[in-house]
Amino acid sequence: MFTERSYCGEINASQAGKRVQLGGWVDKKRDLGGIIFIELRDVSGIVQIVVDSSKSPEIAAVAESIKNEYCLRIEGLVRKRSAETVNPSLKTGTLEVEADTIEILNPSLTPPFPLDTRNSINEELRLEYRYLDLRREEMRETMIARHRATQEIRRYLSEQRFIEIETPILNKSTPEGARDFLVPSRINRGMFYALPQSPQLFKQILMVSGFDRYFQVVKCFRDEDLRNDRQPEFTQVDMELSFVSCETVIGIIEGLVQAIIRETLGRDTAVPFPRMSYDEAMERYGRDAPDTRFGLELFTCGDILKESSFNVFSSALASGGIVKCLPVPDEGAISRKMIDDYTEYIKTFRAMGLPYFRFRDGAFEGGIAKFLSDSERAGLIEKLALKGNVLVFFASDREGVVNDTLANLRLKIGRDLNLIDEDKLNFLWVLDFPLLEYDEGEKRYYAKHHMFTAPLAGHVHLLDAISPESVHSIKAQAYDIVLNGVEIGGGSIRIHNTDIQKKMFGVLGITEEEAKIKFSFLLEALKYGAPPHGGIALGLDRIMMLLLKRNSIRDVIPFPKTQRGQCMMSDAPSPVTPEQLRELSIKVVDK
Ligand code: AMO
Repeated sequence: MFTERSYCGEINASQAGKRVQLGGWVDKKRDLGGIIFIELRDVSGIVQIVVDSSKSPEIAAVAESIKNEYCLRIEGLVRKRSAETVNPSLKTGTLEVEADTIEILNPSLTPPFPLDTRNSINEELRLEYRYLDLRREEMRETMIARHRATQEIRRYLSEQRFIEIETPILNKSTPEGARDFLVPSRINRGMFYALPQSPQLFKQILMVSGFDRYFQVVKCFRDEDLRNDRQPEFTQVDMELSFVSCETVIGIIEGLVQAIIRETLGRDTAVPFPRMSYDEAMERYGRDAPDTRFGLELFTCGDILKESSFNVFSSALASGGIVKCLPVPDEGAISRKMIDDYTEYIKTFRAMGLPYFRFRDGAFEGGIAKFLSDSERAGLIEKLALKGNVLVFFASDREGVVNDTLANLRLKIGRDLNLIDEDKLNFLWVLDFPLLEYDEGEKRYYAKHHMFTAPLAGHVHLLDAISPESVHSIKAQAYDIVLNGVEIGGGSIRIHNTDIQKKMFGVLGITEEEAKIKFSFLLEALKYGAPPHGGIALGLDRIMMLLLKRNSIRDVIPFPKTQRGQCMMSDAPSPVTPEQLRELSIKVVDK
């Protein structure tokens, strides 16, 4: 059928006057009476095909019957277009192929949405017909960019002496904090595998085995609530290294990120990336993954307002809460209606209200201004460096609620006032994370990263005298990398000593018995000369989403799941037959 196929998007001037064979799909067809133009598309792009009915009436007859998305084989002569017919929007726009053979390899139904547009098309429809959606230029470019990034990751890491090793998908549960997807075992009735939330334990085991630099581009599975930057199955660039400190890991990742950006965007990135401690990120931005592309920072002002006559503040402080504020320079862009909308918006984050005042050239006006004493006003002017016209929003509640509220409000206002430069790529390392968190409700400690993360060397002894009040003072050797306010990776130096690992399990309320059942292989392995080691995992989908400026992670994944965890194309998940369930000894009791 094809003896030597050329790619549509790669037809170039050196082929002018030569015959080519092309295979592809009809992107567009224009019938100008005597002459028919077909834009033929394949994975590389588009080239124009011309059929002159006066020269070849039989071919013209075939061309006339052709519709969009028909799959064709074309043979013809490459020729230069005349100056007035050049199409500057096509890479091949100075050339065209005069067809002398058109074979319809397969006709096509009319697609349910136009494929030649970047305009918004209903996403569920796109996902249902993903095979057609992937024919669209934007999706094709995305998949190719992702391929190139992945190849570059493999090249860079191999050059840095990393070895790519596959770890199992059918596993014992690896605890990363989310729910596991379970897979029943037919030959071990009543037993289940868990799909890996990450290859965490296996990569640590590989360090014990002496593969001192491991990596894998690997699917991970987490059964958690989905958002625009979360999928139940996603891809990590997972790494582990022996004999290293945080600094080595950070340096390698900065080089890797530079290489990915050079390959996908053709642009240089300055390193080292800025760094910030977890405490500073929480104080200034209210979250551990701050978007640093714009200003607007939070201030704690409980010290200034501790005797406030505004009851909401004083009672929040008296019951152990905090008061923070978000000053927003405003020359009138924020209307009364917007403030009402923000007051509604913050309820999503469990805040009860959104007190505010306006500072206008030295005067305090509106909202809670009347409750502020002279000394409180002076304190605020100094702390917030108030000048000009500023709108100051407050939140007072438990620390978590306050930070969550103001961090989200900050992002919303940043977007509403167009303060975010979408072309910026702002990387940030967040360091000095607390090792543990205390859950008031459940009265127990949780690992902030995961339970294999090492405390700072000088903080190990603090585990012996841990209390809910002191918990945040124990810092971890952990690091997160953030891009434009999205966590794109995280990792840590690990515990490589069995006793410290056991101590950590103890603090987390994991009994020796439980630890044995769940992780005995790791605890055993650590006893056989485990080297000091650490690692990191990058979220490849998130990185591609941000670099390619896509709105959702689904746009960089070839076959993603919807927010309800469904595949619109294949209809997964789906019921299985009673026989399948019987074989697995499974009974569905409640649907
Ligand atoms: P962590 O849980 O932080 O670390 O995951 C690493 C990175 O993976 C990405 N990510 C996700 N991407 C899309 N959908 C999801 N549901 C999802 N969950 C996580 C994020 C995140 O930063 N084993 C450790 C790594 C280590 O310690 O080396 C781990 O998995 O970008």
